[in-house]
Amino acid sequence: MLPERTDMGGYTLIENASLANRNTLRVAARAKLLAEMRDASKLPELLGFPAIGNDRLLVLGEGSNVLFTGDFDGTVLAMETRGVQVESDGDSARIAVAAGERWDDFVRWTLGQGYAGLENLILIPGTVGAAPIQNIGAYGCEVAEFIESVEAWDIRERGVVTLDHATCAFGYRDSLFKHEPGRYIVTAVRFVLPRSRPLRTDYAGINEQLARMGVDKPAPFHVAEAVVHLRTSKLPDPMVIGNAGSFFKNPIIDAAPADALKREHPGLAVWPQPDGRCKVSAAWMIEAAGFKGVREGDAGISNRHALVLVNHGKASGPELWALAQQVIAGVAAKFAVRLEPEPVVIGAG
Ligand code: FAD
Ligand code: EPU
Repeated sequence: MLPERTDMGGYTLIENASLANRNTLRVAARAKLLAEMRDASKLPELLGFPAIGNDRLLVLGEGSNVLFTGDFDGTVLAMETRGVQVESDGDSARIAVAAGERWDDFVRWTLGQGYAGLENLILIPGTVGAAPIQNIGAYGCEVAEFIESVEAWDIRERGVVTLDHATCAFGYRDSLFKHEPGRYIVTAVRFVLPRSRPLRTDYAGINEQLARMGVDKPAPFHVAEAVVHLRTSKLPDPMVIGNAGSFFKNPIIDAAPADALKREHPGLAVWPQPDGRCKVSAAWMIEAAGFKGVREGDAGISNRHALVLVNHGKASGPELWALAQQVIAGVAAKFAVRLEPEPVVIGAG
């Protein structure tokens, strides 16, 4: 029997909806109710229904940074809103983008329009609305640098808020939104992008790839092309094998233990941070602890990149989570460093 679907004008409600195609780890899970949101102005109406407004709520973009360990006994709000508004003053542009736009489409659009800045962040899966949640980053850049403000529905205060850059408290894979989970529904993100800025090519591999491409005076689209090449050569494609990108964050630890680790393990990549602490490579430690390529049933650690938890087929959320726990324990035992998951783990309840 098909789940019941009701078009409410601006959003569609689906009862007992499958989430299997709404998470890139391809885990089977269901939502008691799914609301496909095409018009953010309808949020007050939707949340005004007591059965929804007083229930558990989960906002979902493309599900590329979540692990479901059970069915979701509440309402999943899938952000499918669209729209881009540009105010340009010639040298730069303020661009407001609806939460449901695809991040990678937006990056490619900015490059096509001749704006610089987002080239290092090309090919990251997911929606624009999710980008500020963990402050997506790659190849030496973080999205926070280009975010002027975030527009959101504040569930607690029941109103629209504009959160400026400072209020968003961005950090490495971190923001206000991670510290107040469930409070905000991001409806749009406002970016400021210049026409030109110094390119960031110092992340390992970019300059070498530009040289292989025969480019000696790179433009933003050359850097984007180099990053696309590096990403596709390193990371498994979720269309081919279920994954959520890096499953663990790179731990940030004090300088003294980082120095000691580096002395004992010279191969470990250590990146000094502005605050004096050091980020250490989780992938290197996971590989050195023997987990790269391991497989337990259909749950596995990618043999291409040790940070990536993969679903070879029918792994359940709890099976994937159990393997992740083994990795955390193995790395803690060998290096005395505690790994933290990057994706949001969503349990039953
Ligand atoms: P979802 O997975 O749907 O949601 C993630 C979290 O954000 C959840 O807590 C959800 O509730 C919340 N959320 C989503 N939308 C909203 C909203 N509108 N309002 C409020 N909360 C919301 N990340 C990086 O930073 N750098 C990378 O290089 C990178 N590479 C990746 C490579 C692969 C192959 C994959 C699969 C993932 C990668 N990721 C990377 C992780 C992922 O792409 C990002 O975290 C992305 O921003 C998630 O977007 P999403 O729409 O899929 O969010
Ligand atoms: N490495 C290993 N074994 C591996 C893979 C990598 O030892 O199997 C070592 C590499 O040799 C290198 C180091 O780990 O010295 C770093 O590798 P990489 O450049 O691939 O970066 P990462 O730290 O593993 C981070 C982000 C990625 C982002 C890349 C590129 C985190 C948690 N992950 O990965 O983000 O794309 O840098 O900037 O910060 C994501 O968040 O989902 C994600 C994919």
